[in-house]
Amino acid sequence: MSDKESNVSQNECEAPPTQHTSVVASHYNNLKDKGLKERYNSPIFYLRNFNNWVKSVLISEYISKIKEKDYCRHLKVLDICCGKGGDIAKWQKSFVDHVVFADIADVSIKQCQARYEALNPRQSKIFTAEFIAADCTKICLREKYHDPSIRFDLVSCQFGFHYSFESLTQARRMLMNISECLRPGGYFIGTIPNANEIVARAQKSPNMQFGNKVYNIKLLFDPKDGYPLFGAKYDFQLEGVVDCPEFLVYTKVFYELAREYDLEVVYEAGFEQFYKDHLNDHRQLLSKISSLESYPAPPGKELLGDEETDYDHVKTFLEDEHRKNQNHKVGTMAKSQWEVANIYMVFAMQKLKKTNVENGAGV
Ligand SMILES: C[S@@+](CC[C@H](N)C(=O)[O-])C[C@H]1O[C@@H](n2cnc3c(N)ncnc32)[C@H](O)[C@@H]1O
Repeated sequence: MSDKESNVSQNECEAPPTQHTSVVASHYNNLKDKGLKERYNSPIFYLRNFNNWVKSVLISEYISKIKEKDYCRHLKVLDICCGKGGDIAKWQKSFVDHVVFADIADVSIKQCQARYEALNPRQSKIFTAEFIAADCTKICLREKYHDPSIRFDLVSCQFGFHYSFESLTQARRMLMNISECLRPGGYFIGTIPNANEIVARAQKSPNMQFGNKVYNIKLLFDPKDGYPLFGAKYDFQLEGVVDCPEFLVYTKVFYELAREYDLEVVYEAGFEQFYKDHLNDHRQLLSKISSLESYPAPPGKELLGDEETDYDHVKTFLEDEHRKNQNHKVGTMAKSQWEVANIYMVFAMQKLKKTNVENGAGV
């Protein structure tokens, strides 16, 4: 990448939203805030809970790493692409002191603020917070902070970083926003769809489209012309949760680019591997937040998936000679939901040294 490409000017910072970013913003702004009952009846109930388990474990692991080094530290967090504040409770449970929430969707940011204001101070001390509605791939976030000299201990971008891979300029601005106020030694953690997994599945299917009854992905570019590193658009539909275009993030490109912003990868894993790596230490939470479905279904309850096609893996497991006669129950996820979970991956990066901005070189 040339020096020219890496020079994101102020004008580019303040560029008007492209057609695509406004589609994303209006998609998220129009998402209904689902009630408990509706969430409970969702066909992807366990998948949503499992995603929450992954985020909770990831957040608590990296907060612990920070606290191990400096227990009394006043923890400051940037929750970028925060949505409606799905991780607010996680921040409260982590006893952080300050969180900056940022998202392109102004309605979501308002809902996030309302959720924050509804936190109960009697339960535990509440962190202070600021809320920024802005396109984090276009604007300079630092200029929006109450204190532009703030130093974050942790930046978290859950299920959102891939929107920045629309163009190199946007990916750079996003990484600059993530890195420039992160203190050296601090962490950047996140979850993204894994481009390698998507491309591998697409290549096995006709019309570069694949999915099952809960999700559908369609590549919106012609792979015959090659795979673009940025702007590799695909449509992702997932049972009323996401239904708008996204962009492939090739981890090799992402990690190399991040390195230019002094962010070094310290951990990466697909969701399945992450689950295996963390199951022993976080088993209790898994059942507390109902991340797995009980098989067979308890009396009076129905399985969420299709008995015929979604549970072959559990049936084989239970049919094993040793388990056959023991009336075993297991926690599992319907195959159709697990297929979605395994599109995603987790990453963690650590900030190495001072950024160019801190050194006074400008962006
Ligand atoms: C799948 S949601 C994840 C929300 C939240 N992080 C969570 O885990 O519940 C993705 C979020 O990314 C936000 N987003 C997409 N593009 C963005 C951009 N350019 N700048 C800031 N936020 C963006 C969307 O508005 C949406 O709220």
